[in-house]
Amino acid sequence: MSRWDHDPDLATLVKKIALERRFGFDAYKESCLKRRVAVRMRATGVETYDDYATLLDRDAGEYEKLLDALTINVTKFYRNRETWEAIAQKVIPQLIQPGSGQLRCWSAGCASGEEPYTLAILISECERNGEQAASIAHIDASDFDKRSLDRASTGEYGDAAFEELPTLLTQRYFTGESPRSIKPEIRSMVRFVRHDITREPPPNPPYDLIMCRNVLIYFDRETQERLVSNFIDALNPGGYLVLGRAETLFGQARERLKLEDARERIYRTS
Ligand SMILES: C[S@@+](CC[C@H](N)C(=O)[O-])C[C@H]1O[C@@H](n2cnc3c(N)ncnc32)[C@H](O)[C@@H]1O
Repeated sequence: MSRWDHDPDLATLVKKIALERRFGFDAYKESCLKRRVAVRMRATGVETYDDYATLLDRDAGEYEKLLDALTINVTKFYRNRETWEAIAQKVIPQLIQPGSGQLRCWSAGCASGEEPYTLAILISECERNGEQAASIAHIDASDFDKRSLDRASTGEYGDAAFEELPTLLTQRYFTGESPRSIKPEIRSMVRFVRHDITREPPPNPPYDLIMCRNVLIYFDRETQERLVSNFIDALNPGGYLVLGRAETLFGQARERLKLEDARERIYRTS
């Protein structure tokens, strides 16, 4: 039994993609999935799921376009400036107080790396006991889209990625003209790992800060609840969870987390 069985043609297509490309659809909102597949079917002039499956067999390029449409890996450095300002002013200073140990962070659904690198940059801007806080920080950054992770690992970015990053930080932490390269000291703070948040446990808990922004929106409510519960279990006491601005908490998570900043979706464990 699969949750798509009420639509056998769609179920066959989903099974094919899951098998061939290790793409887990089980937790996806049906409306979201259908809309994205429909966009590609329209673009290729195909009318049935069956014909679209045949097209995927003979056109590897179309397969990539479909996976791009399904994962939507749009991101930027410093995306949603106010969220990063709140992280810099309220979250990082709490986590690097004298006497605190290592600073362990996880960016879940990191796409091409702009989010974890932004975090690494902001941590590098802070000091603890006269030392750069970067020396105590480790950031795991995960995504299940291999192509995004490959881009993240190169640490090279074109102009569009920098639209929201303050110029001073661009100049301080990147070298060269477009494409700019992230400096090695920032690169080395982040460990990229391929990981499916709907199917695998958190990579290397416990964490002091988990960021999962603009990822939960793709999943049905039950999955969102389960994932947030996994995040809470993976946090140290007093650890922070940051969601995307369009995301919110459901169910028991509301009782297990304190709201630190409603607008920026920053929560904390007690
Ligand atoms: C819109 S991007 C968000 C990037 C970044 N967090 C930000 O807010 O700028 C969503 C990312 O979630 C990833 N994603 C979707 N489903 C996932 C899953 N089950 N496991 C891991 N990553 C997933 C996609 O591959 C994509 O890179």
